[in-house]
Amino acid sequence: MPTRPILITGASGQLGHALAAHAARTGIPARAVGRPGFDFDAPETIAATFGAADPALVVNAAAWTAVDAAETSADAAFRANRDGPAALAALCRAHGIPLIHVSTDYVFDGSKGAPYTETDPIAPLGVYGESKAAGEAAVLASGVDALILRTAWVFSATGRNFARTMIAAARRLPALRVVADQRGAPTAAEDLAEAILAIASRILAAGWQPGFAGIFHATSAGDTSWHGFATEILAIAARHGTPRPDIVPIATADWPTPARRPADSRLDCTKLRQTFGLALPHWRDATSRIVPALIAQGDAP
Ligand SMILES: NC(=O)c1ccc[n+]([C@@H]2O[C@H](COP(=O)([O-])OP(=O)(O)OC[C@H]3O[C@@H](n4cnc5c(N)ncnc54)[C@H](OP(=O)(O)O)[C@@H]3O)[C@@H](O)[C@H]2O)c1
Repeated sequence: MPTRPILITGASGQLGHALAAHAARTGIPARAVGRPGFDFDAPETIAATFGAADPALVVNAAAWTAVDAAETSADAAFRANRDGPAALAALCRAHGIPLIHVSTDYVFDGSKGAPYTETDPIAPLGVYGESKAAGEAAVLASGVDALILRTAWVFSATGRNFARTMIAAARRLPALRVVADQRGAPTAAEDLAEAILAIASRILAAGWQPGFAGIFHATSAGDTSWHGFATEILAIAARHGTPRPDIVPIATADWPTPARRPADSRLDCTKLRQTFGLALPHWRDATSRIVPALIAQGDAP
């Protein structure tokens, strides 16, 4: 009998793509699904996809991630970030399989002044964070064996992200104004995917254990500001021939956006290390890998 696969949702996204690629590279049986075949806005596709895949475990990397657009599309954001995960959790529970669900640092308001632990109270500042917080609550309330990984500032060589935006801007503009008073951990989708699949493999090999349940923080090591991140990205890009613009530090107040963002959303990842022996590499290591790959793609979106 063939091994039942890990079902990966959000196949076209940064994390979903990285999960599918890592599974393929390492021979982990996986089935990656995305829209239109798997769409939280078309609830019938959730059960149909689940039934067709007959998974041993689900990793939900599908989400509404447009932070500013969520402010004016709350219904769609909540469908993708709360109702969809709740439906997935119910299916996993009914079939007796675990769910790994991905959440965000934006459930916090960023006022702690130190890295957040998993037990710190949440206080999202915008609709995106609220919808992700509601998704966490729905998954936990479903009674499924659920492990929720909160991550932050995801970037990779695929999809839309800050690194791609900075490189594209550097090609066009002599100076870039970048927010310098928001602090967090740029996290490489590939490194997070590797950690998630290590966790999934352990669950599948050893069985679910009570200590796996609940929330874990998982970001790349180190932290910086968006300005610090841009400076590192464009220093590497310059070594690969990209024009080097001035990178002007500005305050959040000088770059108004529809959604408010946490000023300091660093996440303490000690629990992940203690439970699974996992620590993601430093964001600078990931940046030195990902920026050349982005540059090699030219102006591709
Ligand atoms: N990106 C970040 O900076 C960041 C930070 C913290 C946490 N996270 C969390 O990390 C996880 C992965 O994020 P990511 O960066 O990989 O996001 P991403 O690149 O924006 O990908 C999101 C994925 O979700 C899919 N999706 C969106 N709406 C959907 C819906 N209604 N039904 C089904 N699929 C839908 C997208 O499909 P389409 O391509 O068809 O739109 C895409 O495959 C998410 O849970 C996110 O909240 C991300």
